[in-house]
Amino acid sequence: MDTYLALEYEHDTPLPEGFDDEFRTPHALVERFLDEYTDPGDRVFDPFAGFGTTLAVAERLGRTAYGVEYDDEMVTYARRHIPDEDDDRVRHGSVLDLDPSWVPACDCCFTSPPFMEREDDRNPFENYAGESTYADYLDDVETAFSRVQSVLAPGARVVVDVSNMKHEGRVTPLAWDVADRVSNVLHFDGEVVVTWTGGEDRDHGDGRFGYGYDHSYCLTFTKNGA
Ligand SMILES: C[S@@+](CC[C@H](N)C(=O)[O-])C[C@H]1O[C@@H](n2cnc3c(N)ncnc32)[C@H](O)[C@@H]1O
Repeated sequence: MDTYLALEYEHDTPLPEGFDDEFRTPHALVERFLDEYTDPGDRVFDPFAGFGTTLAVAERLGRTAYGVEYDDEMVTYARRHIPDEDDDRVRHGSVLDLDPSWVPACDCCFTSPPFMEREDDRNPFENYAGESTYADYLDDVETAFSRVQSVLAPGARVVVDVSNMKHEGRVTPLAWDVADRVSNVLHFDGEVVVTWTGGEDRDHGDGRFGYGYDHSYCLTFTKNGA
């Protein structure tokens, strides 16, 4: 795969009223990686399922989707993408507590974790209700992906969509810190730089797509043992 992608910034499913889709992953990005790394019939896992973008695209492409999501309202929404309302394929809870016996071995994981700025003290793994340091956050990232690797088949590919964060003259090298910590549990293959076309209506004043940048990274990993 190329190490640089420019994709259309759009979503193929509407959100219910009252939801903000600021952190929703554009479907074209998920589709690009699932096309590359999976075949029809494969199982795809998203431990931070959010609105279920990964699950929806996976099902549309004939894959079988599984997910975990902390926010109960988003769980309800994400479950709508699962055929026959098989609610058990989207678990409500924290990936940090994931029981590996629940998910059959998956062939691919595409996900985007919650982000944290270095100076922040709110815990993104509890949707900012609890407190955390950036160091604790990175420990949680490593724990989360050790749980993820326990539900993957040998040779499974993992794609982590993250961005560095630039704010008021300071940078949080989140993408590289996440790459570093996840490579303690999965083999790091490299990164794909992702930029966007369209989305002109998005203006955060500090980069059209948030976090101070107009690009992000898809970090790619492989579970060893293929
Ligand atoms: C960047 S968003 C993912 C967006 C998703 N890709 C989409 O398109 O909707 C991160 C998600 O992780 C969820 N989350 C936060 N802490 C979590 C945890 N401990 N376990 C599972 N999900 C968690 C948040 O509620 C949020 O929906």
